[in-house]
Amino acid sequence: MSTPFIVPRIAASDSLVLRPWRLDDLPLVREAAEDTYIPLVTTVPSPYTHAEGVAFIARQEDRALSRKGYPFVMAEAAGDRGLGMIGLWPDAAGEGRASVGYWVPGSARGRGIATVGLRAVSTWALRDLALARVELYVEPWNTASRKTAVHAGFTYEGHLRSHQSVGGERRDMLLYSRITADLTDADG
Ligand SMILES: CC(C)(COP(=O)(O)OP(=O)(O)OC[C@H]1O[C@@H](n2cnc3c(N)ncnc32)[C@H](O)[C@@H]1OP(=O)(O)O)[C@@H](O)C(=O)NCCC(=O)NCCS
Repeated sequence: MSTPFIVPRIAASDSLVLRPWRLDDLPLVREAAEDTYIPLVTTVPSPYTHAEGVAFIARQEDRALSRKGYPFVMAEAAGDRGLGMIGLWPDAAGEGRASVGYWVPGSARGRGIATVGLRAVSTWALRDLALARVELYVEPWNTASRKTAVHAGFTYEGHLRSHQSVGGERRDMLLYSRITADLTDADG
């Protein structure tokens, strides 16, 4: 049997940590379930029930155990309260690439959480996991996520037409990436 992925605890800044999911993160899942977009592009249950929330958290543990990826909670460094999710999903073919996805529910938005979390997880992937490339797919209308990508050091590479299905409709995606050569001294 192959070794499970271990989701580490990463200090993203003085105020933000990335850590594994825990059962007491249910309020975070509950708030994300009320968002109009997050359940469309994730497996966050909508409508929310306690049982579905527990199953969502169990799925995150399974994703690491089955080597599908590294699902993190972005949490307050002081107190550990969950503020959002970020996940790193290495390509199964072992080509040194991974994709990344993230969400922050409404009450925690606009405080730089996604930007700091994305920079930290991509730096960890490129430096500690020695991956060569981290990719991010963003819908063209999603200004907040496009800004997050650029502020976190990602480079825009192109517009992918009809790239994936979202809510039953084909949608275009913008492709961003961060590669090993993009690491700077500021990344430690
Ligand atoms: C995208 C998302 C993760 C951003 O999270 P966040 O923690 O609020 O992001 P940050 O605080 O790091 O802000 C990033 C930038 O987006 C800007 N921004 C935030 N909300 C915005 C909005 N509604 N419209 C335009 N810009 C916005 C911020 O001002 C900041 O840019 P600035 O520093 O130049 O002002 C969050 O809005 C979200 O979860 N959206 C729904 C799910 C989603 O779209 N996930 C990404 C899929 S690719």
